[in-house]
Amino acid sequence: MNIIILSGSPRKGGNTDLLAESFAKGATEKGHNVETVSVHDYKVAPCKGCNACFRTANNTCVQVDDMTAIYQKMKQADMLVIASPVYFYGLSAQLKAVIDRCHNPLRDSFNITKAALLLVGAASLPELFDGIVAQYRLCINFFKLEDAGHVFVRGAKEKGDIKNTNALNEAYELGKSL
Ligand SMILES: Cc1cc2nc3c(=O)[nH]c(=O)nc-3n(C[C@H](O)[C@H](O)[C@H](O)COP(=O)(O)O)c2cc1C
Repeated sequence: MNIIILSGSPRKGGNTDLLAESFAKGATEKGHNVETVSVHDYKVAPCKGCNACFRTANNTCVQVDDMTAIYQKMKQADMLVIASPVYFYGLSAQLKAVIDRCHNPLRDSFNITKAALLLVGAASLPELFDGIVAQYRLCINFFKLEDAGHVFVRGAKEKGDIKNTNALNEAYELGKSL
């Protein structure tokens, strides 16, 4: 498979990056092609809700930015992995902007059939991921994607805290299981 990881943390080399890297290592060893898109490196404006892309030639967005490159990458993908830090019980804003920009008919040309979710937060709260999981489930149902699994990490606040957990191994194994 061609696997695209949309990785949402602006903190380079942080816990989300490490989690995504471990997943990518397992999946690559299994023979999949993995591309990690660190969305903070791309200039993607939030959707304006104008619906112009439903009428324009080639479904071009009125906002010309780096989402064009991300659409192309998503077009090539068979599987989508969302990797994010928990920000106020939600995904990072950078990632949410990319997801909202998929409110565009271009998504009908995607061939993505599977999804997985990698999340990191600082708290140890049992409900920490509930908001994101609800959104993830509703979205994969909407897009008719198969859920390939998840790794959720609690108690990782500072850069590298995730190394004190078993999560990197879990992410590697998830990648390898595909
Ligand atoms: C803006 C912001 C909001 C955050 N909100 C939460 C939160 O609601 N719950 C939580 O447990 N951690 C929260 N955190 C902590 C991060 O999820 C945590 O530090 C995580 O390890 C960051 O991942 P990274 O190293 O990949 O950036 C927040 C951090 C920031 C910067």
